[in-house]
Formats: sequence, C-alpha cells, structure tokens
Amino acid sequence: MSYPFQITSRAQYDAAYKQSIENPEAFWEVVASSFLWRKPWDKVLEWNFTQPDVKWFLGGKLNITENCLDRHLDTLGDKPALIWEPNNPDEPNRILTYKELHQEVVQFAQVLKNNGVQKGDRVCIYMGMVPELAIAVLACARIGAIHSVIFGGFSAQSIADRLQDAQAKYIVTCDGAKRGAKQIPLKEVIDDALVQCPFVEKVIVHFHTHTPVSMIKGRDVWWQDEVDKVAASGNIDGLATEMDSEDPLFILYTSGSTGKPKGVVHSCGGYMVYAAYSFVNVFQYQQGDIHFCTADIGWITGHSYILYGPLCVGATTLMFEGIPTWPDAGRFWDIVDKHKVNILYTAPTAIRSLMSFGIEPLQGKDLSSLKVLGSVGEPINEEAWHWFNDNIGKGRCPIVDTWWQTETGGIMISNMADITPAKPAYATLPLPGIQPVLVDENGKEITGNDVSGNLCIKHPWPSIIRTTYGDHERCRTNYFATYPNLYFTGDGCYRDADGNYRITGRVDDVLNVSGHRIGTAEVENAINMHTGVVESAVVGYPHDIKGQGIYAFVICTNTHDDDNLTRQDIAQTVARIIGAIAKPDKIQFVSGLPKTRSGKIMRRILRKIAEGETNNLGDTTTLLDPNVVEEIKAGRI
Ligand code: WT7
Repeated sequence: MSYPFQITSRAQYDAAYKQSIENPEAFWEVVASSFLWRKPWDKVLEWNFTQPDVKWFLGGKLNITENCLDRHLDTLGDKPALIWEPNNPDEPNRILTYKELHQEVVQFAQVLKNNGVQKGDRVCIYMGMVPELAIAVLACARIGAIHSVIFGGFSAQSIADRLQDAQAKYIVTCDGAKRGAKQIPLKEVIDDALVQCPFVEKVIVHFHTHTPVSMIKGRDVWWQDEVDKVAASGNIDGLATEMDSEDPLFILYTSGSTGKPKGVVHSCGGYMVYAAYSFVNVFQYQQGDIHFCTADIGWITGHSYILYGPLCVGATTLMFEGIPTWPDAGRFWDIVDKHKVNILYTAPTAIRSLMSFGIEPLQGKDLSSLKVLGSVGEPINEEAWHWFNDNIGKGRCPIVDTWWQTETGGIMISNMADITPAKPAYATLPLPGIQPVLVDENGKEITGNDVSGNLCIKHPWPSIIRTTYGDHERCRTNYFATYPNLYFTGDGCYRDADGNYRITGRVDDVLNVSGHRIGTAEVENAINMHTGVVESAVVGYPHDIKGQGIYAFVICTNTHDDDNLTRQDIAQTVARIIGAIAKPDKIQFVSGLPKTRSGKIMRRILRKIAEGETNNLGDTTTLLDPNVVEEIKAGRI
C-alpha cells in the first residue's frame, strides 16, 4: 500500500518538486489534507523571515497523537506500532500494538494530568531508550504539554540550564539507563540538577535498572504506582487536548556557535505534516515494513523518525535501548536478523565504528530483509558509504543520505530510495517544498552548477523552527539575520554539475562529534571553569570514527606537576559541566593563543594546526604575537 502523498517515480518527484515551488501553498494543502484535523485550517501559510514569523495551516485544530494512534486503531489496532529491543540481548523484547500503545499513552496522559500538568506546561523527559520514553513523549503531546527531551548523556549542569531556560516544573525520568555494559544513574543526575531548580514540582520516576534512588516526599513519585492508581480508579478520560496548528509541540535544545544551547521550538501542525511526508517519501515506507532508526530519542532524529513520522503513517518502528558494539559489534545485525528489519537508518559514526571490527561480526547474520539504508548526522565519507553499501546492503539497498537539522524538523536534502539516484557523499536533491540556495560571504546568491557556498533555504517549509524558547531575537539573529530573507543553515555546501548537493560541514564554530552537535564556545566555557585554567580555545579536527574530534589549546595558571593528571581533571570538568560527549580528545598546553590585535582568537590557524597542516597557515601578519604560533606548532599532539 502506498500513501496518498507517496511519490512513486522519478517523474512524479520532478512534477511534485516543480509544483511545490510554483505553488507551495496548494502543494502542502493537499499533503496536509490526508491527516486528521479536528477543524480544517483557514489559511495555509503566513510568513516573513524578517521577524521571523512563520505560521502554517492557520486556524487548524488537531492533536498529533490522534494522528499517531487513534486514527490507526480500526485498521491497524493489532499491528505492532513499537518494537522495543533491550540493551541486553538475553532479556525479552517488547512489542506494543497500536491498541496497546494507545492505551499506555492515554493512561500516562492521565497520570500527567493527575500530577498537575496542564496544556502549555513544559515537561522535561530524561530517560534511557525504553518504551516508557516514547509513551511519555506521546502522553505530553496528548495533553498539549510541551516536551523537552534531554539526551541521557548530558550532565546535571546541562539539565539545570535547560530546566531553567524552559521553566519546566515537571520531570519524567528513570532510576537509571542501560548503555552497553554501563549504567547511568539518571535519577541521581536529576537530583543533582534540581539543587539549582527549586521550581520543579514533580518528578515521575520509571523503575527500570534497580539503581538505588532517593525519592523526595511530596516531589518524587513512581511511574508504576501512578499508573496503577489511574488504572484502579478507572478514571481516565482518554481525550486528546485540541491544539492549534501553531501551538508548540516540543522544545529540543541544540548547540550554537555562541552561548548556551538554545531551545528549538516546533509547532504541532506543520511539524506533523512534514515529519510524516518526509518519512514516507525518503525511505519509501510501505505498509508492514519494519523501520529501525538507531538514533536516540534525545535528538531530533529520534523525535521525527522513531516516533512522530512513522507513527503518523501507521508504521512499525523499532526502538533499541543499547549500543552498536555491545555485547559485540554484531548487535545491529542480530537485531536486523531477529526482527526482519526492512529499513535501517543510522549514522556515519556508527558505520565507521562497526567497520573497524571488520566483517567477522556479520557472519551468520541474515540481512536479506533489508530494503533501504539511511545515513544522517554528518557527511558520510566514501569509504564508509561503500562499506555500508557492499556489506550491509549487499549492493541491492539504496542508501539515502539525509541532510537536515534540529531546526528543520525533518529531512531537507536527500535522495529518495529507488526514486532518485544516490551519489556517495552527496545528500543529492532537495525534497519537494525545499529551495536550497548557495550564497557567498556577502549574501550574494551563487547560481549555476559546480559551485560552492553557504547553504541557505529560501521559502518556509512546514516544519521550520518557529522560535528559540524564551528568546525570539536569538532565533532571528542566529538563522535569519545573516542573509536577508533566507534561513541560514550554518553549513557549507557544494552543488555539482548535475545539481546534486554535497554538504561540506559547518562554517560556524559548531562541532559535530559522533553526530552530536557541540559548540566550541560551550566546551571552552566548561574548560575555563577548571581552577587551573586561564584561557582556552577549542577546534575540531578529523577523527577516524567520530568524524570530528575535539582539540583544546589550554593556558594554565602556573606550571603543574603532571600534565596527564591535569588533562584528566580538565576532561572531568567538561564531563561535569556538559556531559561526557563533550570531553576533549586532545589537550595541548600552551603559553599563549594566536590573537589579532583586537583580541580575537584566530581559530583558522588553530584548526590548521590541529588538522596537522603546519606549513600553510595563511596570513599570520595580523597576529599580536606571531611567535606563539611556532610554539603551538612545536607542541602539537
Ligand atoms: C548538522 C545538524 C539532522 C539530524 C541529526 C543532526 C550535519 C546532518 C547530514 C548529512 C552532512 C549532515 C550538518 C547539520 N548533518 N545530516 N546527511 N550530511 N552533514 O542534527 O544536531 O541539528 O545537526 O548536522 O552539519 O547542520 P543536528
């Protein structure tokens, strides 16, 4: 079965693309009409990129969970909605049908209500990859509470920052999370965060890992107890809250080049339409297919392509608690074999990491169910592309290289499986409705082919970022002020002779470490919190597995006895302030940093040194003290 808005041939893609550019409103109106709306919209689109102010499907009323759950109950009620594969392969997996998932969501929505959560309230969700995470997310959406999922790898300080920014009074968490051989004491991390957040009223804790926790009277309650209470009372209204198309659906924090992470806000109607539309078309999902996206729900990929996109179209989505390399590097392939996975959507960093184990972990694994492979998060290098294609897809599964961002809500540039051709290392062509533009530093559009520039998008699409929570001006300056009337992505890009796009990486001070987005300024601020540090500068460098590694140049107060111990202390500080994902891979102690006369650090030079390019440093004449460059070059790690 194909979907009403499913593109089924190259000619259809061309026609859809043409129409979506010539008349975007007519185009999206047709797509949106195949969803369940309580009340249809009065107007398709209102927008300007100056403020910015973008509204889709104005006046439309809906609840996204009625689209994800209720509307499938009659036709797909007994079909698996969510397959959950545990961290430990010896433990049983869980399968929730659409009916069961609906039931769980409705119950937990009632729990949230009974604990005081109301429409518009912000609920922070800090859990491992357990089905209850999906249930909590959907339950928030059910009652119109704005969820803010925080990845389980972030520290207490990071959580506190996000709780304060969003003024979130409610938290849903677990006692702990399992990740391979490790356990993360989530509730303990939350308790540390809450020392700084007295406004938090309720913490709902799901019992999972048996990690000891301290439950604070009046504040902390057990998920299971609350659900039991609701079930016993029989007092569940089950009704979804009617939302305006433009009401916020969720906040997701992401790093920028300056300051603390910002809360990207997505709204209900437009996000739903685009997540589902892009899901069906890019992966060419067919009813009955098993879709396995290996991302964590703490990132946008998990929001759009584990939960909302697939569930909106009645797909079966597989959620995996563990990591690709535990108990061994065959874990993904066991899951594919066991559940007969049809679509596997993963990240280049995972592919490279698995590649390093060779093909032995593939022995005896039946991968013949696979039809489509996907990549996301960073540019995929050709070597990894070919390994994925040859050993996993066996040359018969198209690989979709999907470029997008937290802010875009859904896939923007990608080939469509078996519809438009792949080209290794290229995201290739824009989806219908997406108008990429390349510009030079002065904001002048670079037309024609075989050209490079900064990647911008011209016209709004339904799931474009609406604001950054609590600070609309930040949204404007970050994305809409660099180039007038364009959304600026922060990525550099090449357009080849045939019009295919190849993303070349960030042009701002944002790192992409194992597909995780981290601001250099954020890491510097964390390093600078260490008592022994005077100043630091952080840049990215090419890393075989992570894509980019973190290289820190650090000036210390005085000579310390043990360089390695100090390095560990600094890394520990970063883990404490941000999370282990932001720990520098290399720390070089220096006596000075290359600065311009106005005091600006010349990262360009540091980046070259970190990359190992020590001869062609470009113009260094504007440096305050050119000698420090020689010292830094000599001390390179
Ligand atoms: C940045 C966005 C979108 C989900 C995961 C990351 C980079 C993402 C690709 C790709 C080259 C990519 C970009 C982008 N990126 N996908 N297929 N090819 N680069 O979301 O954390 O918001 O990061 O990831 O640099 O700007 P995110």
